[in-house]
Order: sequence, then C-alpha cells, then structure tokens
Amino acid sequence: MMRLDGYLCSCKGVTRSEAKKLIKEKRVKIGDTVVNDSSYHVKEDDIIKLDDEILTYEEYIYIILNKPAGYVTARNDERQSTVMELIDEDRKNLSPVGRLDIDTEGLLLITDNGKLNHNMLSPSKHVDKCYLVRCARDVSDEDMNALRNGIDIGDDKPTLPAKCERFGSDILLTIHEGRFHQVKRMLLATGNEVVYLKRLSFGPLKLDESLRPGESRRLTKEELGSIKDYL
Ligand code: URA
Repeated sequence: MMRLDGYLCSCKGVTRSEAKKLIKEKRVKIGDTVVNDSSYHVKEDDIIKLDDEILTYEEYIYIILNKPAGYVTARNDERQSTVMELIDEDRKNLSPVGRLDIDTEGLLLITDNGKLNHNMLSPSKHVDKCYLVRCARDVSDEDMNALRNGIDIGDDKPTLPAKCERFGSDILLTIHEGRFHQVKRMLLATGNEVVYLKRLSFGPLKLDESLRPGESRRLTKEELGSIKDYL
C-alpha cells in the first residue's frame, strides 16, 4: 500500500520527518508489536496504532494554505516555485482548488478529492470568494457602486453583482465568479490598479490568521463539515 512513514503522514497530517521521529520513539505499533522501520510497507489488513490509538486511513485529504506571494498556483512549473512545494504531503493527486495569481496571498485549498475541486469551482454553485484589495488610488463611492452592480471587464458579459465594503483605506470585495484575474480587472475597469491582493475566504472557509504566509494545515472536522455540500 505505502510506506509506514507515509501512512502516518496521511493519517495524522504530520510531516515525514515527524513521522520518522514517532517511529523512532517506539510510539507506532502494528497490532501489538512496535515497528522501528519507517520503510515498512503497510499491508491492507495491518492494524496500525499510534500511542495505542488505531489509525484510520483517509481516502482524501484537505489542506488549507496561506499562500505567500511569489509562488504559482500549479502542480508543477519549470521556472517558478509552486504552491505544492510549500506543503509536506506525499499524495500524488493533490491539486489546488482554483488559482491565485503569483502575487496574490491568502486562502488556497488543496485536495486530492477531484469531486470537491470540481464542485467548488462550478459556476452554478456561486461559491463566494472574499478578497482584501489595496489599490493605488482611492476608490470613490461611485466606483464602489460600479463594482457592486457589475462592471464591463472586456468579457462578453459584465461581472455579476458583488459585495463591496470599505475596510480602512482598503476594500473588501466578495465575488461569486472566478474569471481570469477578475479582481484586478474589475479595479482596472474603474481606472484603478490593485497593488496588494489577499483572499480571506473561499465559500464557508476562512483564512486562518494563525497561519503565517507559507504555512498550511489540514482542515478541521468543523471546516470539513462546512463544505460537505461540495463533497
Ligand atoms: N482575482 C485576481 O485578479 N487575482 C487573483 O489572484 C484572484 C482573484
């Protein structure tokens, strides 16, 4: 099936070096026998325990990443660093749900559940995405209304109505679509320019502010429950 250290990573969300440490500390058993070989190949009917708790293998994993600027949202790229390099997981089908531009920060969901990926991006689901937007120039009340009502960004249709509110000198913009460079193009259409962009939420998921840029973690049970309609 897979190596014991990889199995621990999958079940407990620990890094490979943490998994190796747990094994070295004799905290991992197969049945009632301590195993100390990280490369042991787990078999289908092995009962693996950590500190005497039986582990269950999860079919899919769900990771929330606070994406830093400077990383492309792609599974691999020949020239630039990818968001996948920031997570320490060894499942082969992991991929980001949607994309953030290289200079955009904030909430990015990564999973190997292709159905969730598809459902959360489906235009018919209208998943809300809230962005903190900092602009080169002031956003007037008139511009705020234009962003709210829908604006021509050069596609065949104007953008759908959006939520837009002031947040200090920045704005919070919540859109329900996911067009290419949508937020930047919306501001451009008002004659402005985005100088900093950060995604604060994606559907029911909120950016965990305790995650520093570049840090990630598995979704909690509560967060998984909140996206069950997309699973
Ligand atoms: N809109 C953009 O323009 N860029 C992003 O990264 C996300 C939304």
